[in-house]
Formats: sequence, C-alpha cells, structure tokens
Amino acid sequence: MNIKGSTNIVGLIGHPVEHSFSPPMHNAAFDALGLNYAYVAFDVNPNDLQSAIEGATSLNIKGFNVTIPHKIEVIRHLDELDDVAGLIGAVNTIDFKNLKGYNTDGIGAIKAIEEVTQVKDKNVVVAGAGGASRAISFYLAKFGAASITILNRNVKKAQMLAGDVSASDLIDEVKSDSISQITSHLSDADILVDTTPLGMDPHIDDEPIAKADAMHEDLVVFDAVYNPNETVLIKEAIKAGAKPVYGIKMLLYQGAESFEIWTGKKAPIDVMEKALRETLNIE
Ligand SMILES: NC(=O)c1ccc[n+]([C@@H]2O[C@H](COP(=O)([O-])OP(=O)(O)OC[C@H]3O[C@@H](n4cnc5c(N)ncnc54)[C@H](OP(=O)(O)O)[C@@H]3O)[C@@H](O)[C@H]2O)c1
Repeated sequence: MNIKGSTNIVGLIGHPVEHSFSPPMHNAAFDALGLNYAYVAFDVNPNDLQSAIEGATSLNIKGFNVTIPHKIEVIRHLDELDDVAGLIGAVNTIDFKNLKGYNTDGIGAIKAIEEVTQVKDKNVVVAGAGGASRAISFYLAKFGAASITILNRNVKKAQMLAGDVSASDLIDEVKSDSISQITSHLSDADILVDTTPLGMDPHIDDEPIAKADAMHEDLVVFDAVYNPNETVLIKEAIKAGAKPVYGIKMLLYQGAESFEIWTGKKAPIDVMEKALRETLNIE
C-alpha cells in the first residue's frame, strides 16, 4: 500500500474493532485494482458517534462500514437511507458522497446463497430473529422468496420480525414458530438459513439447530457463522448430502457490495476472498 497526500480514506466504525477482518480484505482489493484508497478501523465509543460522523465528513472520508453497537443508532446522523436499509432499520455501510446509509449484510447472504441456488420462488426457513436474521429476511423477500418461516427460541421476537417483513409487501407468505419445531419445517424447505451463533468458536461442539436426519439432499444450508469455517451445522448438511453455504461468503459479499458503493468499481471477488481466507486461516 502506498499512502500519499491524495489517498482516499474509508474505514470501519464500531466498538470494539481490533479483530475486524475487513481491513485486509478491502486493502487487498484496492491494491489489486490500483485504486488510491486505504481502509482503516476506528474504535468509536457510543457517546462519540455523532462527533465521529461529523468529523469524518469534515475529514473528507469517503465511506464507512458500521458494526456493533452503532448499526441502528447511526441512522439518525445520516441524510439519506437506502429503501431496504430503512425497512431493516440498521445500516452497515455509509457513502459520504450523500451521507447515505445502506445495509449490505442481507445482500451479502443472498449472493452467498445464490452461488448455489436462486432465492426466487424458494421456501426458506430462517433460524434466529436477531440483527442478522432481520437483514437477511428483508433481502430474501426482496429477491422473491416464495415463503419465509422465521424460527426462534423467543417466539415473540420471531412473530414480530415476521410481522415487519410481511408489512413490507415484498412477499406474501411469512410465518413464525418456535425453533424447537424446526424438523417439521425442513421437509418442505428449499433453503435453511441459520443466523444463531450456535457452533461459533469457542463453542464449536454446540448442538446444531438441525441434524442430518432432518435434512434432505436438495436442501441448501447456509450458516452465518464463519469461525470455524465448517460449523457443526455445515458438517450435518454435508453428512445429509445437502448443499452447504459457508458464512465466510456472506462476509465476502457484504464487503464487495460496500466496496462497489464507495468506489463505483466492480469488486475483485477472488482477491477479496483470498485475503479473507488468509486472515481467517481457512484453506
Ligand atoms: N457471515 C457474516 O458476515 C455475518 C454477519 C452478521 C452476523 N453473523 C453471525 O450471525 C450470528 C448472529 O448475529 P446477530 O447479530 O443476528 O446476533 P443477535 O442479534 O444477538 O441474534 C442472535 C439470535 O440467535 C438466537 N440464539 C442465540 N443463542 C441461541 C441458542 N443457544 N439457541 C437458539 N437460538 C439462539 C437468538 O435467539 P433469542 O432471541 O431467543 O435470544 C437470536 O435470535 C452471529 O454468530 C454472527 O457472528 C455473520
């Protein structure tokens, strides 16, 4: 990387940020395309969020990724909001050209799944009803899923999210249920999306949300957890002969979308994936 007087700065705001995988992924992409950009991470205390956005504007920063705990709160400091980000109610990307917020987490998951199968007209079961589930569910609806069934331990949260997605008018059929009923929902499902943290390092031996005997060979199984790469759920999917989609792909494609928003250039996916795999120590 060759930082000059004219280098454009993009970055990440969150609290904490030091373990982020985004700087190596984006900087490898800027290097590969010879773009005069650098990506850095800023640890921003929640009390300092407004001054961080104002300061970034004054410093002519080009773009930010936004992570926990700022994804919802940051919206009040923006001038514009992408339509789906508005429905989701959370932003993970800011373009300072117009101080506009986007949510690329959901589209990242869709692009990961669409490496294996189209989302359009598919019946999708989504496990979990937190932030990742919300972002992904609205995008599943936008990309034409036939139905979405949201399953959660706290069923009220699943009902509320299902109600919000249904109210968006992007999709006709949104259901909710307890996650304990997952087996009965999987027989008719084309795609399973797991947004629970089950199986995430160091809890790699957690009981997965579903076992191989509940899956069928045509099922596509996406686990948002990316550390470890092969989670307990992905292992069960492989055992069942189902088609696995790895969490690293969501991380990759949400980054690629942000890159394209900031630079207007097509993201070098292979370069970004290689950098991500090296950082995560995945072959
Ligand atoms: N690959 C990527 O790029 C990417 C991006 C974002 C997030 N993620 C991953 O997605 C996961 C969820 O993130 P999030 O931000 O959505 O978290 P979150 O808002 O805290 O939501 C977590 C969800 O998981 C459920 N859950 C937690 N522990 C559970 C358990 N033991 N059994 C059953 N359900 C359980 C929660 O259910 P209750 O409501 O009942 O508590 C809730 O619905 C994390 O592992 C995160 O690393 C990956």
